[in-house]
Amino acid sequence: MKRTGQLKLGAFFHPTGHHIASWLHPGAQIDAGTNFSHYAEMTKAAERAKFDLIFLADAVATRDGNLEALSRWPQYMAFFDPLTLLAGLASVTTHIGLVATATTSYNEPYNIARRYASLDHMSGGRAGWNVVTSGNASEAYNFGRDAHYGHSERYERAGEFVEVVKGLLDSYDDDAFVRDRGTARYFDPEKLHFLNHHAKHFNVRGPLNTARPPQGCPVLFQASSSDTGKDLAAQIAEVLFTPLHDLEKAQAFYTEVKGHAAKFGRAPEDILIMPGLNVVVGATQKEADEKLEYLQTLIHPAVGLELLSNALGGADLTGVDIDKPLPDHIISPEDRKTSPRYAYLFKEPLTVRQMYERYGAARGQRTLKGTPATIVDQMEQWFVNYGVDGFLIQPPVLPLGLDEFIAHVIPELQNRGLFRTEYTGRTLRENLGLKRPASRYAQAAEPARATA
Ligand SMILES: Cc1cc2nc3c(=O)[nH]c(=O)nc-3n(C[C@H](O)[C@H](O)[C@H](O)COP(=O)(O)O)c2cc1C
Repeated sequence: MKRTGQLKLGAFFHPTGHHIASWLHPGAQIDAGTNFSHYAEMTKAAERAKFDLIFLADAVATRDGNLEALSRWPQYMAFFDPLTLLAGLASVTTHIGLVATATTSYNEPYNIARRYASLDHMSGGRAGWNVVTSGNASEAYNFGRDAHYGHSERYERAGEFVEVVKGLLDSYDDDAFVRDRGTARYFDPEKLHFLNHHAKHFNVRGPLNTARPPQGCPVLFQASSSDTGKDLAAQIAEVLFTPLHDLEKAQAFYTEVKGHAAKFGRAPEDILIMPGLNVVVGATQKEADEKLEYLQTLIHPAVGLELLSNALGGADLTGVDIDKPLPDHIISPEDRKTSPRYAYLFKEPLTVRQMYERYGAARGQRTLKGTPATIVDQMEQWFVNYGVDGFLIQPPVLPLGLDEFIAHVIPELQNRGLFRTEYTGRTLRENLGLKRPASRYAQAAEPARATA
């Protein structure tokens, strides 16, 4: 049976856009990474278009590698702290959700709980936290470590981290602050709880010095692609952000994640699947094709090679001819077929330039290029056939690509009844159709007491 209803949409802002060469395009804000007005104007435009949310990625390090290439590729090299940015954006908007990434590998739960609770209060319940375990291994060097945590260790730490944050957010009951001048009582001491968390990665007494936020807890996003990542998502994520490239695989993933969540006592609608979607829109298919081709011609070969080297697990590409196929000695024929990371780059004979163009177009996410009608056909097909609950739209160039999506694709979605024309909820949770979590103390049969 086909699904009815409306899909969810996030606008994923990467400073100058998601295409690797976006900053060279005249439609990009060239100093975007440190330009608040750029983000403010885009967020207001996304709110007028009724997007559920804006979404920001993060890294707590610059990228390391060949500076000759990195100096031509600004992504993550000049980048606002996302929570600071969202606090500013909260003050120029009223409805749109504000979602920022924060790593559990190089933060402390107390700081994170406090910052997101503050953002949720300041925005009237519009905060979301994208939980990641850090994709950039160089972050370790900024936090007193010689190497990044191993994969399983960082996921174990992430699970405990999120539990502590949720516990801290429940420090005060929702009605703890009586603020009664008559009795000179500001808060009810019975309604303040010490977490007293003592486990492998964290020792946190609490309580948090912030009132329980309007949403109870910011909406928890999670970005991952591995099985371990999926396990954590099934337990904690309310929105899962992951690359999905074909409908059949998306449907299998959808069923698997929602089924897995049930094992943790969660309903299928408690977790939404929203992959990234890089949209290139044109008045005709030809125009859309040409737009992407133009962007591809802007990729500097040094950047293309650095990107491809990363995609191929750090392969040394010094001296390769970019207009010839990749020499056999760099990646063995066996690895070309079997590597889960890059086998797709060897599915057909490509030159090195074509390989990096394919990889660089969407930073690993799916690209849709076409007219508004063909783009919406695809989005609709994935939604009504239970492949996704919505999409995080990744415009290739910002602000141009967002403006085009809003002008041409949103009206087509709305005409087909697939997207809202007005906000119905007050908070991000309400707009996404997610429940507000009750405090753990309200749920407990015997409410816990403060034990200082
Ligand atoms: C779609 C997607 C987006 C991600 N965004 C970020 C990010 O903004 N910051 C970050 O530090 N890590 C990010 N990551 C990295 C993950 O947190 C994780 O460290 C990495 O994907 C390895 O875990 P996995 O094997 O479960 O995918 C992202 C991963 C995916 C799949």
